[in-house]
Amino acid sequence: MPFLQMTGITKYFPGVVANDTIHFAVEEGEIHALVGENGAGKSTLMKILYGMEKPDAGQILLNGQPVTISNPQAAIRLGIDMVHQHFELVPSMTVAENVTLGYEPRSGPFINQGAMVDRVRELSERFSLQVDPAATVADLSVGVQQRVEILKLLYRDARLLILDEPSAVLTPQEVEDLFAVLRRLIDTGRTAIFITHKLHEVMTICQRATVLRHGRVVGTVNVSDVKPETIAQMMVGRDLDVIQRPANATPGPARLVVRDIHVTDDRGLPALRGMSFEARAGEILGLAGVEGNGQSELLETLVGLRFPQRGDIILGDTVVTHERNRQRRARGLAVIPEDRTHQGLSRDSSLTDNLIATRYHAPPYSQQGILNLSRIRQFARRAIEQFDIRVRGPNVRVRTLSGGNAQKVVIARELAETPQVLIAAQPTRGLDVGAAQYVYSELLRLREEGTAILLLSADLDELLSIADRFVVIFEGQIVGELSPAEATRERLGLLMAGRAEAVS
Ligand SMILES: Nc1ncnc2c1ncn2[C@@H]1O[C@H](COP(=O)(O)OP(=O)(O)OP(=O)(O)O)[C@@H](O)[C@H]1O
Ligand SMILES: [Mg+2]
Repeated sequence: MPFLQMTGITKYFPGVVANDTIHFAVEEGEIHALVGENGAGKSTLMKILYGMEKPDAGQILLNGQPVTISNPQAAIRLGIDMVHQHFELVPSMTVAENVTLGYEPRSGPFINQGAMVDRVRELSERFSLQVDPAATVADLSVGVQQRVEILKLLYRDARLLILDEPSAVLTPQEVEDLFAVLRRLIDTGRTAIFITHKLHEVMTICQRATVLRHGRVVGTVNVSDVKPETIAQMMVGRDLDVIQRPANATPGPARLVVRDIHVTDDRGLPALRGMSFEARAGEILGLAGVEGNGQSELLETLVGLRFPQRGDIILGDTVVTHERNRQRRARGLAVIPEDRTHQGLSRDSSLTDNLIATRYHAPPYSQQGILNLSRIRQFARRAIEQFDIRVRGPNVRVRTLSGGNAQKVVIARELAETPQVLIAAQPTRGLDVGAAQYVYSELLRLREEGTAILLLSADLDELLSIADRFVVIFEGQIVGELSPAEATRERLGLLMAGRAEAVS
């Protein structure tokens, strides 16, 4: 008898069937992958299991016994717990406070601070999570924040852990660490459901995989019996084309020039220490580096949210070092930010408003302060169709979109008109394989049309498959530049670790 069975689960939202008579079973002690295109219904099914959404039909059985899970507290009592697609930690509180929130150890009416810290430290050590209970969450890297989320589940004694795209925001090293944690969870008798868009992760860490498409189950497979292509084919219902980079770029003049910039971080410490590089028209310049080597500060400086103490930034023929974001955008700068759900979108506004957010103040979308609503509607409809944003209509609030579809909104907005310079940070993060390929083909289209593209990616395979030239950032400087012929995983890896001498 399976540990968990969900049978006949159906969930309607206005205009969509998010889950359509889904049967889903998980065995005790396995890591079960839940995969499918953006909007296929994965998060919805897991929110039903976690008591956050109420199904319109269907039943949940634990060890063969029917259970009612009407809210997350009920799920937690049953040993079912979830890390969400978007983290839910309180940044200003400590690790221990976050982990124990709502379940604090008490002495009479008082929270027992000592016991709280001890308990969290003990758990962190037992599972080798290496988290300091006294640290403030805002100061932690994304990878560590995620381990805090996992600690929270362990503290509440979860037996079945639901992880909704835990690896999407992690660097390759952090993914390795996460997998080590998952293996320890399984070794201690726990069970996990793992949502991801990366099939190599499914192949590495999961025993079985269930594929959803358009709210229905396509099938469940034993991972050891299939190739990743089979799972991809089940997800999208067709074979995927392999994107081939067209032969060598013939880049034009430099469109984005970064010249010897010095930038400090939020604490006033040097983050960029004399950084220089240039991206030319018609090329994709790949920027590789281990997170935390100045990438965030570089992005903020390029888009005009942070300003250098020294050095210059040139866009086209203009020195824009002291210009703000809106002026730079008017010169043809487009940006796909790293943290799209927070920096790129207004989640309570409509899809159309988000699509138009960077251009509503200029013709043809407005004239002398009057919005041209029909042009705006036309633009929105075209973007929705072109990027295959799966929604009921252009007026839905972005909050109701699936994670990947929300990201497509930002990408559609930024790529819609051929920009002079595009800065793309982790552009395929959270996208399904089909959508990711579409983004690659769009980047290549812009490259053909003469956009200078700076591509930041934590995924070396992604960089290697699409960039025309590579620069590596290490401790706030560019430590090497490689052509495609020179660029291998090994060489890039050495440069990323600061071993420039080993490469030259
Ligand atoms: N609160 C809501 N209101 C209206 N529609 C919703 C709501 N939540 C989800 N949906 C819709 O249900 C469908 C399934 O969404 P869900 O978030 O489950 O997809 P997903 O498989 O997790 O996708 P992704 O990989 O992009 O995260 C989508 O069409 C989505 O727009
Ligand atoms: Mg989702």
